[in-house]
Amino acid sequence: MGATLTTSRAAQTARWTRKDLLDLRTLSAGEIRLILQTAESFREVSLRPIKKVPALRGRTVVNLFFEPSTRTRTSFELAAKRLSADIVNITTQQSSLSKGETVLDTVRNLEALKVDILVIRHAAAGVPHLVAKHAAASVINAGDGAHEHPTQALLDLFTIQEKKGRIEGLRVSIIGDIAHSRVARSNIWGLTKLGAQVTVCGPPTLLPPQIEQLGVRVTHQLDEAIRGSDVLMLLRIQHERQEAMLIPSLREYRLTYGLDQDRMSRAKPDVLIMHPGPVNRGVELDSSVADGPFSVILDQVTNGLAVRMAALYLVAGAQGKPEDAGMFPADA
Ligand code: CP
Repeated sequence: MGATLTTSRAAQTARWTRKDLLDLRTLSAGEIRLILQTAESFREVSLRPIKKVPALRGRTVVNLFFEPSTRTRTSFELAAKRLSADIVNITTQQSSLSKGETVLDTVRNLEALKVDILVIRHAAAGVPHLVAKHAAASVINAGDGAHEHPTQALLDLFTIQEKKGRIEGLRVSIIGDIAHSRVARSNIWGLTKLGAQVTVCGPPTLLPPQIEQLGVRVTHQLDEAIRGSDVLMLLRIQHERQEAMLIPSLREYRLTYGLDQDRMSRAKPDVLIMHPGPVNRGVELDSSVADGPFSVILDQVTNGLAVRMAALYLVAGAQGKPEDAGMFPADA
């Protein structure tokens, strides 16, 4: 487990020196706080009538998505546009990847076009790391297999900080398919580094062996995960897991691990309900809870924009405070 740095001094002194944003495992608490602070500065840009600043004018961002996405791809595109960068979207079906071109050859060709930042989602763990090793361009991991989804965890941390005023000392339960979840893994790193107490909950087949070594508590009882938690983070049950016989049926999963109004009566009165999306309504989460007063699911999506603006801005190598570097409205 990484060292826990909780002082604001650590955050103030953190400087972004990395070409890439690949995971939360290797970031310090100070670097995570720096991203959250930078996102805070960018949040108000989206509230302006003209939602654009010139911070990354002249830079080119490529969204390279080998897997489907609604939230991540769209918010990276909007984030790049709001920073005045040029953005190109590439998906497997539209590109020569479908003709057998390798990922690295694709990246070499994009670099020949002088792109600056590659935002990569891939079904295989480690692809963004591999590309980052070979590319001069910055790489941001937009989700790699079951490994990490760092910007999702950062927007989750940002949302918890926004709603609760702190992360240190909070009790956060992550419920569902932990074994196959890149969101769970990144959140475990981020939350524990910032001093939260994390519990993971799910059927034994959906919890990775020795997960306790990451500094989390484990329970298979949903009521135990709910009791006393400040945040309940539900994860998508993936239908392909059912086909692999990791759960008996979606109906059974819902009865044992689905969060409904009845179970909500055992939660703290100020609990936050979070979900990275897409939600399987009526499986891990009832609609009454997903759309209820404790849900911050759409706030997570909104905050994803500011967090991804911060990620693009920092890896682009723009140092110093955003307000000193082009936070006035763009004239372009
Ligand atoms: N949370 C998330 O990654 O959603 P998308 O798959 O829609 O990007």
